Amino acid sequence: MNENGSRVVVITGGSRGIGRCVALKFAEEAARIVLVHYDPDESAAQETLALLKEKGVQVEAHKVDVSVRQEVEELFGDILERYGRVDVLVNNAGITRDTLLMRMGEKDWDAVLNVNLKSVFNCTQAVIRAMIKQRSGCIVSMSSVVGQIGNVGQANYSASKAGIMGFTKTVAREVAARGIRVNAVAPGFIDTEMTAALPEKVRQKFLEQIPLGRMGRPEEVAEVVYWLCSDSASYLTGQVIHVNGGLYM
Ligand SMILES: NC(=O)c1ccc[n+]([C@@H]2O[C@H](COP(=O)([O-])OP(=O)(O)OC[C@H]3O[C@@H](n4cnc5c(N)ncnc54)[C@H](O)[C@@H]3O)[C@@H](O)[C@H]2O)c1
Repeated sequence: MNENGSRVVVITGGSRGIGRCVALKFAEEAARIVLVHYDPDESAAQETLALLKEKGVQVEAHKVDVSVRQEVEELFGDILERYGRVDVLVNNAGITRDTLLMRMGEKDWDAVLNVNLKSVFNCTQAVIRAMIKQRSGCIVSMSSVVGQIGNVGQANYSASKAGIMGFTKTVAREVAARGIRVNAVAPGFIDTEMTAALPEKVRQKFLEQIPLGRMGRPEEVAEVVYWLCSDSASYLTGQVIHVNGGLYM
């Protein structure tokens, strides 16, 4: 919290899906919200901005590729200059380039590792000094159940999401004494554009393995992200919270 009483919250991948729901959740506390996305067109981001403005919060959106270090440094430099602080960072941007390892090209590997994992390094490093100075801050990064259990066709994706788990635990140890909490959320099979792209047969196979018998809703993930960034979770750091309907226990 800062002197204005409203937290400054940066959400990558905030234009749609889980990121949009996280932003809507933070809007309930009148946070000042910065969305980052890299959609080819601005329509989803504009829709999210409109939904947030309806709730009366201060919000802005930026199209920035979070895998590109210089762009991230410029973005956060600008945010810190204007707001003076960042209270919450949600590292949520992510992509898939699924194919069997036998066929996986170097480009598919690099793209997924860069967008899903290097971005977390880029954005976290860009805020950490400010958070240390504030002696407060919450960072939540979006991992995945497949970072824990693997998934056929996702060697790149599951490696990136497992990498987030290791990164989270290490950074949590490094900054705990400075009042900063660092956690990850590992969603299971959530109903967003990312999973809408999956063939029906794959969807059915996933559903059969979920004890709760259904896909998750992005709102159900957003609730946990929000809670992790609240005082109710003040004794949690370095944790990976699974939100997966029982797919992995
Ligand atoms: N949907 C699921 O079932 C599921 C399960 C586990 C984990 N996740 C993770 O949750 C996160 C959000 O997933 P979603 O389903 O809402 O995805 P989505 O495809 O609906 O949204 C992805 C978001 O990431 C942004 N993005 C992509 N590349 C970017 C880049 N280079 N720079 C900046 N922003 C970029 C997009 O613009 C968009 O805002 C991802 O990290 C994903 O891996 C999703």
